[in-house]
Amino acid sequence: MNTSALISLDRIVDGGFAVAGADLDGDIEPLVLYRDGDDVRAWINVCPHAGRQLDWAPGQFLKSKDGLLVCAAHGATFELQGGECVGGPCRGESLRAVEVEVRDGAVWLKPGS
Ligand code: FES
Repeated sequence: MNTSALISLDRIVDGGFAVAGADLDGDIEPLVLYRDGDDVRAWINVCPHAGRQLDWAPGQFLKSKDGLLVCAAHGATFELQGGECVGGPCRGESLRAVEVEVRDGAVWLKPGS
């Protein structure tokens, strides 16, 4: 049971990213969080290409002009609805989504995640 928030919503710029650690089945996994207005989506911060984290410095992510998340390691690009790689070395693969919800001004793992 996860009883603490991952991050407060106001720590994520609208249209921007943040990182958080999430307890998933007893393992702390690194997450990349993307804010889209009042909605937040989250994925494990591990690129399906070579398993690197996508940020170039802790919590610092690249976003292309056309709104794609860019892996800092080798430039794979991911759309920000489903986390699918739409360009680069792992095209067609996807980031691993983690279910989160926004509640009381913070981002939480969805119960049962
Ligand atoms: S590890 Fe992300 S593109 Fe290679």
